[in-house]
Amino acid sequence: MIVKPRVVEAMNAQIQSEFSASQQYIAIAVYFDAESLPDLAAFFYRQAEEERMHAMKFVHFLLDTGAKPLIPVTPELKNEFGGAAEAVEFALNQELKVTDQINNLVKIAREDNDYASLNFLQWFVDEQVEEVDTMTTLLATIKHAGGMLLLVEDFVRRNLANPHGEADAEAE
Ligand SMILES: [Fe+2]
Ligand SMILES: [Fe+2]
Repeated sequence: MIVKPRVVEAMNAQIQSEFSASQQYIAIAVYFDAESLPDLAAFFYRQAEEERMHAMKFVHFLLDTGAKPLIPVTPELKNEFGGAAEAVEFALNQELKVTDQINNLVKIAREDNDYASLNFLQWFVDEQVEEVDTMTTLLATIKHAGGMLLLVEDFVRRNLANPHGEADAEAE
């Protein structure tokens, strides 16, 4: 098998993390939607789509290499938030945790001389740098706004409405 057994196991755990992240972002989007903050809601609905795409990347990589992806249930998610800062801080912590998991996957792939997985995982290493940066910026913006969330809405609309637009244009 191209992908080493320990890597398959860790990637299946990662599939669960990515689907959980997707569902968790829907829960955060719903919180903002209910608070009548449509730009923050739209941002997190988009993040949810991205996380689902991440999960599917792992699913297809395992299929392509003859390994077996396992489609998981997600653990209990957080549905109650005490405010915008709390919700975004929760999101940031989730991204930091996923970054650790990706780094650990890279470590296992390297230890087991699994070069196909190492190459595949590089995209996720870059992606996590971007996701942590975006969430850190959003949390800082909420703190700067000092409770004036319409300012945050404006920031999200102007700066985070299409976070990958630039990168996509470069990739063309
Ligand atoms: Fe992800
Ligand atoms: Fe993410």
